[in-house]
Amino acid sequence: MSTIPWETINPDGRWRVIVTKRLPGTEWIDILVGAGCRLEICSSDEILSGEEIASAIGDTCHGAIGQLTENWGKDLFTVFKKAGGIVYSNYAVGFNNIDLDAATRLSIPVGNTPGVLTETTAEMAVALTFATARRTGEAERYLRDGRYGGWLPTLFLGELLSRKTVGIIGAGRIGAAYGRMMAEGHKTDLLYFDPYPNQTLEDYIGDYSRFLESKGEPPVKCRRVESVEELLRESDCVSIHTTLDESTHHLIDARRLALMKENALLINTSRGPVIDEAALVRHCRRYTKFRAGLDVFEKEPQLADGLDHLENVVIVPHIASATRWTRNGMAMLAARNVSATLKGYPLWTKPDITPFLQSDSPQAVPSIVNAGELGLS
Ligand code: DGY
Repeated sequence: MSTIPWETINPDGRWRVIVTKRLPGTEWIDILVGAGCRLEICSSDEILSGEEIASAIGDTCHGAIGQLTENWGKDLFTVFKKAGGIVYSNYAVGFNNIDLDAATRLSIPVGNTPGVLTETTAEMAVALTFATARRTGEAERYLRDGRYGGWLPTLFLGELLSRKTVGIIGAGRIGAAYGRMMAEGHKTDLLYFDPYPNQTLEDYIGDYSRFLESKGEPPVKCRRVESVEELLRESDCVSIHTTLDESTHHLIDARRLALMKENALLINTSRGPVIDEAALVRHCRRYTKFRAGLDVFEKEPQLADGLDHLENVVIVPHIASATRWTRNGMAMLAARNVSATLKGYPLWTKPDITPFLQSDSPQAVPSIVNAGELGLS
């Protein structure tokens, strides 16, 4: 008998929807209840296993909102389908925890929550960039330990980033927002590695350069590089914003770390397994002026042996999207993915997702990642 606590809201609702974690805000509850859903919300902070989720799905379940910490694979989607499952939404923009092929084979639309994490996540990447460059973690520990004996010319010397070169791996929405923050705020040049050119970013930086020149300041550059290797060699700071799939697993390994400048910064707010974390620990031990700022980890919540003892690494527990506005917005988008699909609404096809955060939301489903495969429009 499971002891995991679940809270029921609107017990007489027509559609049974399970939500595997409490979500912030209350708007998302109003959205689902307004659509006639009975909600069952897990009120434990423990990460649920597949068996525990299957047991919560039970015999009848029409909708589900799950977490990036859960493995929604073929078995779970089969249980969900048998229970009458119509739609699943991840409470995340990333969906590497989902077996998308399995969901598609079972005709289950899989929602995600793009568009509301962009600036929030980019800001955290900037925060980690400067925390590593200016050694704020080490310096704070030193101060709190009572070791500060007064100002010294050599105390915690770090790296100046103004006018340096920042390399972006993955110049999609979040990577491009980070690039703009660094170029506009700190006049860094940008290099980016991405399978697709980001013309909007390049044009924006071009316009910004003309503005700088009109003020008598040197321009900033933005260039797409042909290889990760070129980006790693030339950048003073590298920030990772790519999705995780087979092609990006251990994209940054010992060989590629060795190409980076000895005092470079490596920032990761994407997914942990993009970096070979054991190789990173070895690299940081060997090159003490090299610094890493990590929000995500290869085997979350575990850290690679020794990572948390390295003074040249700043670590935070996967909180890059953790602002109130973003997490509320993610909850509303996940709720609307489920409620609008249950109501049979069509798919939203415009890039701007923010109308779904208003009370007079469009009558559409915000974001379904396997929409193309399922022929949804
Ligand atoms: C996501 O939504 O994929 C993020 O990793 C959550 O912070």
